[in-house]
Order: sequence, then structure tokens, then C-alpha cells
Amino acid sequence: MPAKAAGGYSRAMQRILVTGGAGFIGCNFVHYIMEHTTQHVTVLDKLTYAGNVESLSGLQSERFTFIKGDICDAVLVDELTESVHAVVHFAAESHNDNSLEDPRPFLETNLAGTFTLIEAARRHGKRFHHISTDEVYGDLALDDPHRFTENSVYRPTSPYSATKAGSDMLVRAWVRSFGLKATISNCSNNYGPYQHVEKFIPRQITNILDGNRPHLYGNGRNVRDWIHVQDHSSAVLAILEGGRLGETYLIGADGERSNREVVEMLLSLAGQPRDAYDLVTDRPGHDLRYAIDSSKLRRELGWSPRFPDFEAGLADTVQWYRDNEHWWRPQKAATESKYAGQGH
Ligand code: NAD
Ligand code: DAU
Repeated sequence: MPAKAAGGYSRAMQRILVTGGAGFIGCNFVHYIMEHTTQHVTVLDKLTYAGNVESLSGLQSERFTFIKGDICDAVLVDELTESVHAVVHFAAESHNDNSLEDPRPFLETNLAGTFTLIEAARRHGKRFHHISTDEVYGDLALDDPHRFTENSVYRPTSPYSATKAGSDMLVRAWVRSFGLKATISNCSNNYGPYQHVEKFIPRQITNILDGNRPHLYGNGRNVRDWIHVQDHSSAVLAILEGGRLGETYLIGADGERSNREVVEMLLSLAGQPRDAYDLVTDRPGHDLRYAIDSSKLRRELGWSPRFPDFEAGLADTVQWYRDNEHWWRPQKAATESKYAGQGH
């Protein structure tokens, strides 16, 4: 383990605080930590439209506490941060389309919320891990031979990615100015169970299950670099355990696919013609391509994805949505009517 990581985190620490643990990636991380460590996990989550306590059902109660609250609530955040050994910060407004409709909650949660957390972490000298996104680096041309690295220039393009970029900058400044014991990870697009039906893959899976045609923005040629959410969780744990303080790690699983390819795979899995989709109005400012070079993480921490087969992971995800209609059905109609209002 690198020397600087000694000031960081170890599985022997007993208590961690996970913000946004009722959301898609946060809840999968909480399940992962409960399974792979003996730690006590406290989740702090506001339960916005994107949070769902049902995603955390079945967890051992003596090792798990759920607190409904806002990461912008400085008094609550201070009290919870003091009571744990490390903070893993997932909470965010996370959907680009929503940020184009109403950016304000993105500024509040992603910027003011992160500020509130890092102030508490520095006051109490706690280890902090900040979850961020590859979108802070803007987008790539389809034929660009390069992928994003830790040295790529920040070029966010949407209100969502601008606020995530700002939150990364706050964490970096707190490391340098106040010695905050922090690491940052920037991950590519996640897929897997418990993802809200507003997001691309669950939206198309549930459209197909409902007998409706998938909707592709623009010409469908935009590329995303897909990673299974369990691989994101294992990477975050590896960074917590072995990451060098002050460093950024990019997380990705070499999963580049165009949106059109993904929809064609989903239609094939459902036994439908591969062209049974509709092209709809494009997202304004739609980023063309994201692609992650995760060699630093692999080289320094020995991490590698356990679910590198995207098609197999997608088939499992389709099955999860088939088996868990009770989980997604309550959000489906409202989500689709919101999209209809946006012209999608
Ligand atoms: P999500 O929208 O599914 O979940 C966000 C969670 O945060 C919800 O449970 C919500 O209730 C909670 N939350 C929102 N505002 C809050 C506040 N003010 N106080 C407390 N809780 C609040 O998001 P996700 O897709 O799970 O993303 C989690 C993190 O990972 C985000 O920081 C996102 O930027 C980052 N990320 C996501 C992806 C992806 O593909 N989804 C990829 C890379 C990075
Ligand atoms: O790259 C990481 C980012 O991935 C995260 O930071 C974000 O939180 C997460 O939401 C995701 O952002 P995207 O904008 O890439 O994800 P989304 O699921 O919204 O869309 C994926 C692609 O699919 C994108 O090119 C837009 C397109 N799309 C989306 C929807 C909802 C469609 O073609 N049709 C749709 O109905």
C-alpha cells in the first residue's frame, strides 16, 4: 500500500458515513460494504425523487443506520461526521436532463452540499472520499484516439457537469489549503440494479417491458463508456483502502458503446426487431462521447472490473427490472410525463 494511504482508511475503522446511500450507486455501495466489511454504515439521504429506502431493505439493522436529511444541513452534517471514521460522498443531483430544466438544486446539493461536508470533515480530521464523474472533462470526438485521464483538462458542458466539476475543485482546494484527507474518483456511466427509470438504460428496459418503443436522442450515435455498478463499488473501496491522499483516480471498464448499440442489444434480448426504436429531439448540448483510461487505478491499486462483459451484465440488469417491477413501477408514469413535457 502506498505510504500516504496510512493516514487514510482501513477496514478496521468501524463507522462510515455514506451520503446519497438511497440512490442508485450509493445503495449498491452500501450493499457492497455490508457484504465485504464488518463496518457500521450510516446513510445520510434527503430522499429526493431519486432516493428510495426500499433499495436498502434487508440490511442487518445493528450495522446500519438510515438518517433522512440534507447534506446542506451544517448542524446535522457536523454531528454525523464527528461520529464516524470516514465519509464517502455520493449524494448529488445527478441527471443532465433535469439540470437543463432547473439548475438550482444542482448548485445547492452539488456545490453547497459538498462544501458543507468538506468543512465538517476538515474540522473533525476525517477521511473523505468524493464521488465524481467523467463528465467534468467534457466530451471527445468519436474518432479521438485518446481517452480521459487524470491529467485531462476540465471542460464541463452542462449545468450538472459544471456543478460536479466545481465540487471537485472545492475538494482539491480543501486538500491543498487545509490538508483535508481526501481522494476523488471520476467514474464513467454506471448500469445495474436500482437505477432510476429516468436514466437511459432503465428507461429503455421499462419502455420495452411496457410494450413501448425505446427513445434515442438525436441520431443515437453518442457513445458512453459503461461500467457495472458493482465494479464502481469495488473501485471506491480499493481507493479508500489504498488510494494516495490528495489524488484523483479515474474508474472505467473499457465499455464504450453507442446508444444505438445499447438499444439494439436490449431489443434483441427482448426478442424484438433491432430497429424497433424512435429517434427523438436531441438533448441540448448533448456530449458526444466519454471514454475512460483507468490505468492509474489498475496499476497503483491492482483493481480490475469483475463484470467486463457488458452484454452479460445488461442481460442480468434486464432480468432485475423484470423481477422488481414493484420497485420501479411507482416512478414510471411520472417520469414519462416529465419527458413528454420536455419533448422527449
Ligand atoms: P442518484 O440520483 O440515483 O442518487 C442520488 C441520491 O442523493 C438520492 O438518493 C438522493 O435522494 C440523494 N440526495 C440528493 N440531494 C441530496 C441532498 N441535498 N442531501 C442528501 N441526499 C441527497 O445518483 P447516482 O446515479 O447514484 O449518482 C451518485 C453519485 O455518483 C453522484 O455524485 C453522481 O454525480 C456520481 N456518478 C454517477 C454516475 C452514473 O452513471 N449514474 C457515474 C459517475 C458518477
Ligand atoms: O458519465 C457519467 C454520467 O453518466 C453521470 O455523471 C450522470 O450522473 C449519469 O446520469 C450519466 O449521464 P448521461 O447523461 O450520460 O446518462 P443518461 O442515462 O441520461 O443518458 C445516457 C445517454 O443516452 C446519453 O447520450 C443520452 C442518451 N439518452 C438518454 C435518455 C434518458 C437517450 O438517447 N434517450 C433517453 O431516453
